[in-house]
Amino acid sequence: MSHSLVTMSYIVATILFIFSLSGLSNQETARRGNYYGMLGMAIAIIATALSASVTSYAILIVALLIGGAIGAKAALKVEMTQMPELVAIMHSLVGMAAVLVGYANFMDASTSLSGVEKNIHEVEIYVGILIGAVTFSGSVIAFGKLSERISGKPMLLPARHWLNLGLLVLAIILGRMFLQQTETGGGTFPLLLMTVIALAFGVHMVMAIGGADMPVVVSMLNSYSGWAAAATGFMLSNDLLIVTGALVGSSGAILSYIMCRAMNRNFISVIAGGFGTSGGEAAVVEGEVTPISADETAQLLLDAKNIMIIPGYGMAVAQAQHTVNEITKLLRDKGKKVGFGIHPVAGRMPGHMNVLLAEAKVPYDIVYEMDEINEEWGHVDVSIVIGANDIVNPSALDDPNSPIAGMPVLECWKGETTVVLKRSMASGYAGVGNPLFVLENTRMLFGDANATMQSVLKALKG
Ligand code: TAP
Repeated sequence: MSHSLVTMSYIVATILFIFSLSGLSNQETARRGNYYGMLGMAIAIIATALSASVTSYAILIVALLIGGAIGAKAALKVEMTQMPELVAIMHSLVGMAAVLVGYANFMDASTSLSGVEKNIHEVEIYVGILIGAVTFSGSVIAFGKLSERISGKPMLLPARHWLNLGLLVLAIILGRMFLQQTETGGGTFPLLLMTVIALAFGVHMVMAIGGADMPVVVSMLNSYSGWAAAATGFMLSNDLLIVTGALVGSSGAILSYIMCRAMNRNFISVIAGGFGTSGGEAAVVEGEVTPISADETAQLLLDAKNIMIIPGYGMAVAQAQHTVNEITKLLRDKGKKVGFGIHPVAGRMPGHMNVLLAEAKVPYDIVYEMDEINEEWGHVDVSIVIGANDIVNPSALDDPNSPIAGMPVLECWKGETTVVLKRSMASGYAGVGNPLFVLENTRMLFGDANATMQSVLKALKG
């Protein structure tokens, strides 16, 4: 393929990636957005494979087959609830690729660069390996935490901010040494040492971040993986990789910012870690819970006019979305107003609940964002909280010592009656007690959310 044809293909792929991102911003166009992304990536791979820079098809085909097979197997096997883990581990691969490409570039004796160009190339290598190594080790730890192989509690070393600052200064000094030594054909030692430091920094950074801040970390690592890809693009002089990396890097950064705003947390404080470690002790929840049966819940729903459903992580675990949709249809057919209130960090990944509801074919126009309904609770007769916990925790608003203090929540307790579906009194992701469960107007419907919703459906039909 000629150089200009490759460039043309890269431009088309870039445009498709931009369409893809814009499609993904809305659930009605998300499917189309995915198709654009897939088409763009197919064009990018084919154009690169047919470009003059590929010299060995045998190696490329074997690598594509191995990578494709692993990717396909992982995608087929992964449960919706494990998606964030998969994303985290995929980010680690981008980081590793940047490190490996960086070392390959460093060891490549065939480069004919000199003077300023050589220096720039070496800076690209150094920075690429640095970002790649942080992304790699940080993503591996994020994977461990999300899959509960590593404790979700923040690991806080003494003087950790000074430690981070020290590592950063060391990385800068080593960078200078690296540039000086490459003049005389050396530089291996500072590069290796910096890689070890960057790996340690990635581990330390994510280990210090606890439970409820993990979504922001995954999105931040997504951003890092984009910058790592862009750095790889610079090293390989591949324009498409630079642009795609920048798109991923900046969209990940914007998403992290939006999520921080949704949790009322400052981005820097999230990255600095230590979430869940405010000075005082969070209040212990005391009081009696009032259980309710499925039949009684059905009766409550039949007596209500305005119903709000709040799904959380437990709905995903129980796979209750289809039963919930059936109940919704039945109630709407009876003339009830039914809505869904979605918290921006409900579940375990951005848009988790929207994906489940779309899968169950819940109409988009009755799915509301938190800001839209937090003013409306006065008109709600019954709210059904399905496997949600942290996102409906009043202590976020009134207990300054709570680890989730300041996080906006769905204030369902301001409605007439709240029914909470969960299996036990266990806490949610942030590991804190929830005073909602003992409020006078709260009823607890214990059991697996799908089983209890099935019983409610049966009672509604009966
Ligand atoms: P959580 O606070 O994690 O609460 C989920 C609740 O579901 C648990 O208390 C659990 O109680 C219940 N549950 C689990 N399986 C169930 C089942 N089969 N049937 C019925 N109930 C079940 O979830 P949330 O309210 O959605 O809040 C999300 C939390 O995750 C936030 O703290 C958020 O910061 C964090 N987080 C979010 C993301 C993103 S981006 N969304 C990513 C990572 C972390 P039982 O065990 O008693 O049943």
